[in-house]
Amino acid sequence: MVQVLNLSLIFFCVILQINAQKVNVCKKFINYYLKSPQVCYYNPDQNTEVPDIVTRLGYPIESYNVTTEDNYILTVFRLPQPGAKPIFLQHGIALSAICFVDTLESSLGNFRGNRYSNKHVTLDPNTEEYWNFSFHEMGKFDLKAQLGLVYNETGKKIYYVGYSMGTTASYIYNILHPEDASEKLDIIVSLAPIVYMKNIPSSVAQIAPLWPLIEPLVTKLTHGVILQRSNVSINLIKTLCLGNLFEMFACQALIQSLFGYDNDQLNPETLPVTMVQNMEAISTKTISHYVQFILYGKFSYFKFNEETNKQIYGNAIPPLYNISSLNVPIYLMYGSNDFFSTIKNVDKFFNELPEDTKQNGKYLVQLKKFNHADFITAKDIKSLVYDPLIKFLNNSILQS
Ligand SMILES: *[C@@H]1O[C@H](CO)[C@@H](O)[C@H](O)[C@H]1NC(C)=O
Ligand SMILES: *[C@@H]1O[C@H](CO)[C@@H](O)[C@H](O)[C@H]1NC(C)=O
Ligand SMILES: *[C@@H]1O[C@H](CO)[C@@H](O)[C@H](O)[C@H]1NC(C)=O
Ligand SMILES: *[C@@H]1O[C@H](CO)[C@@H](O)[C@H](O)[C@H]1NC(C)=O
Ligand SMILES: *[C@@H]1O[C@H](CO)[C@@H](O)[C@H](O)[C@H]1NC(C)=O
Ligand SMILES: *[C@@H]1O[C@H](CO)[C@@H](O)[C@H](O)[C@H]1NC(C)=O
Repeated sequence: MVQVLNLSLIFFCVILQINAQKVNVCKKFINYYLKSPQVCYYNPDQNTEVPDIVTRLGYPIESYNVTTEDNYILTVFRLPQPGAKPIFLQHGIALSAICFVDTLESSLGNFRGNRYSNKHVTLDPNTEEYWNFSFHEMGKFDLKAQLGLVYNETGKKIYYVGYSMGTTASYIYNILHPEDASEKLDIIVSLAPIVYMKNIPSSVAQIAPLWPLIEPLVTKLTHGVILQRSNVSINLIKTLCLGNLFEMFACQALIQSLFGYDNDQLNPETLPVTMVQNMEAISTKTISHYVQFILYGKFSYFKFNEETNKQIYGNAIPPLYNISSLNVPIYLMYGSNDFFSTIKNVDKFFNELPEDTKQNGKYLVQLKKFNHADFITAKDIKSLVYDPLIKFLNNSILQS
């Protein structure tokens, strides 16, 4: 009898265990207490890859490889839609509703170092040499190669939609390759544009002055890359940030101190998916370059030590990126509670744009608490961002 009980207990526990692993999202935050199967379920998107997610949604997806001039091998995903207008999304990897608008053919860019673009013709990705890049190289090399590929495949001018670092890199691409950019792009749409980072309220600003002191050690210990995706790091997130309701909000408190506070737009049904899917490797040099933006308040080339600056730039001080030489029309969409991309800094950038690039104006998202992360994860992202964006693009289709 005791043995039977034991057995059934074990059996019961095994079932619970399986369920605990299977169920990964719930309809409301409160449901995460009990994770009962009536209101919680398994969302496979947490543990699959971008092509699988698109295929599961019933759309075709193609994968292309392209090699940059400095020999990084990148992947571009394309959701073919014959005859439609090409739109290039540099969002990190968050899949957005824009991908599935039938007048648009989406391509998804992958910057060097992310999980789909982690190869190089000669360099080993586990070396400091491989990770020796910031968004400067993403703009200079990655966007040139990826947009070239999409332009060749579609034979049409492209709408570029970038988010966060995807905006910084797009300006660098346009500034360094003005002819190439004006030939290939109709417009640059920027979600949460990052150019100036003066006096940002993010907790990152408090850590920024320390970063130059610890960076050499961090780079040595990590060969120049942090937050690299692996089963270990993914399981760490699941255990530390998604294990229960308390953990979920504790991690959010930390994340929102970086990005801006907004619990209202957290989506209980997708948070465990976006947390896992949005984790991507970041090179320490990328962090250093943004820290320089924060510390000096300038849109400047990467600052090495004085000697290397002289060697590379012919000057002890690195040059500024020349905003006056932007020549592709730009549309800025930004949030009032974005701790990375503040209204003041966006306005400063907008004021410096050449007149003929800013005819479309800019768009402040109509929600007071809208923060940096909300641009990819907000519950009401469709009505707050995608609808106005698609309306804007639709009007500019009519104009052209
Ligand atoms: C792209 O490159 C990767 C890795 O080098 C390879 O596995 C894949 O088959 C390539 N895909 C295409 C479409 O060439
Ligand atoms: C990184 O690149 C800079 C110049 O772009 C060079 O001076 C430096 O030696 C490189 N570092 C590594 C580890 O490759
Ligand atoms: C695009 O086509 C041009 C002309 O055929 C070619 O020179 C270029 O290498 C192609 N670019 C890409 C990225 O395929
Ligand atoms: C990581 O996890 C995936 C999915 O659970 C599995 O297919 C893969 O083999 C694991 N990789 C390693 C290196 O353990
Ligand atoms: C910046 O670009 C503008 C427009 O191309 C040009 O007139 C100006 O001389 C450039 N400034 C610098 C410092 O290179
Ligand atoms: C785009 O504009 C056309 C013509 O005005 C309209 O019929 C269509 O509904 C619009 N599509 C979207 C997504 O706004």
